[in-house]
Amino acid sequence: MNVKDKVVIVTGASSGIGLATAKLLAKHGAKVALVARSKEKLEKLSKELLHSLAVPTDMTDEKQVRKMVKDVLNNYGRIDILINNAGVGYDERLKHHAKMTTCLRPTRPDMLPRKFLRG
Ligand SMILES: NC(=O)c1ccc[n+]([C@@H]2O[C@H](COP(=O)([O-])OP(=O)(O)OC[C@H]3O[C@@H](n4cnc5c(N)ncnc54)[C@H](OP(=O)(O)O)[C@@H]3O)[C@@H](O)[C@H]2O)c1
Repeated sequence: MNVKDKVVIVTGASSGIGLATAKLLAKHGAKVALVARSKEKLEKLSKELLHSLAVPTDMTDEKQVRKMVKDVLNNYGRIDILINNAGVGYDERLKHHAKMTTCLRPTRPDMLPRKFLRG
């Protein structure tokens, strides 16, 4: 898949799989919105990755998720791909997962204003 100039949101971009994915996408020319709670880590990473944007967000907080989507749209004008990776290991409480899933609704393409969708 050619990701050059695609606008990609990567949640959980501050470590692990999300961090590796964000780096790979940026290397292949994507414009990557870096999402996680760790503001400093994201800002440091954003300086390393060309055309990336740090958007510190707690994905369990719907207000913050909506603001994140708005910030990404304001900065890039559209969203092409969502890598919905943020999460926690099995030892964390299931409640955390449930809340996060609920709050992810605002990032679903069908909830974005049509004018921002491509095609
Ligand atoms: N690694 C595995 O073997 C494995 C297996 C099955 C599934 N998974 C799933 O794959 C995903 C990534 O795993 P990983 O191993 O890369 O985990 P990781 O290294 O612990 O990274 C998790 C990422 O999610 C972010 N995050 C956690 N809670 C968040 C929240 N409330 N809001 C925003 N960001 C949040 C963390 O950033 P902050 O702390 O900065 O917010 C971090 O960037 C997770 O969803 C995990 O459940 C992993």
